[in-house]
Amino acid sequence: MKFFKQKERLSPEESEKREAIFSKIKEYRAKGCRVPAHKLIKTEGQIAGIRRSAEVNTGVLDLVASRICAGMTTEEIDRLVYDYTVGHGAVPAPLHYEGFPKSVCTSVNEEVCHGIPSPKVVLREGDIVNVDVSTILDGYYSDASRMFMIGKVSEEKRRLVECARKCLELGFKAARPWGFLGDIGAAVQEYAEGQGYSVVREFGGHGVGLEFHENPFVSHVGRRGTDMLLVPGMVFTIEPMINMGTRKIYIDAANNWTVLTDDGKPSAQWEYTVLITETGAEIITG
Ligand code: MF3
Ligand code: CO
Repeated sequence: MKFFKQKERLSPEESEKREAIFSKIKEYRAKGCRVPAHKLIKTEGQIAGIRRSAEVNTGVLDLVASRICAGMTTEEIDRLVYDYTVGHGAVPAPLHYEGFPKSVCTSVNEEVCHGIPSPKVVLREGDIVNVDVSTILDGYYSDASRMFMIGKVSEEKRRLVECARKCLELGFKAARPWGFLGDIGAAVQEYAEGQGYSVVREFGGHGVGLEFHENPFVSHVGRRGTDMLLVPGMVFTIEPMINMGTRKIYIDAANNWTVLTDDGKPSAQWEYTVLITETGAEIITG
């Protein structure tokens, strides 16, 4: 359901700051840069709303972290996510999103993303699983995911999970005001490929906050100084999907959601929602 938020009244200070940002954006646009639409620059009020949503989202991930273990089904993870989210006055964003049937994405081993929780999927020692949690609170969206290693996992899977985590950290470190989205993609791509892994291209990060998926598309490959200008007040996810083998993927024809690696080798992903500030960037999810 869409509803219209009342137009906010901004303080004179905030209005002045926004105007300064908008005029700087105009200069970059005149130079031929791809720049964000003004609506992608969140107000302080909107940022506060997104932070509250992210608090619930982090609570969900912490709960999953404390409970996940061998023998558990991904359906049970879905239950935990649903109950905690609703218990905190929020709504799981994936539920019924474009027909998605569950409250969370659980992607095991060779599943890249958009795995659907099921009573038939039992987590086993040696599995790696991404749990991707997205929350709507008071109309504000947040989105983050973590990898979990079930019991003792192989050294090669552990290295992949650590690489994906490092890719997220490096992508985040590359995010700064008046830099470019391509700085993030380049940082992730260089590290992942340098480690002998591949980076998924068809799916990426995205603007988030007032909707689940907003502009821009955040690529995890790229060249520095290219793609969209980064501006204070932008909120988007960084969520690199790193494959052990080929970067080629396909979508499971049985459910039209689950993305799998073409060669059946494992894939790993970590995700933050990030805010571009006046001085750098901030992780607003846990
Ligand atoms: N949480 C995913 C993301 O990071 C989106 C999943 S869409 C869903 O963008 F419908 F599968 F939930
Ligand atoms: Co996301």
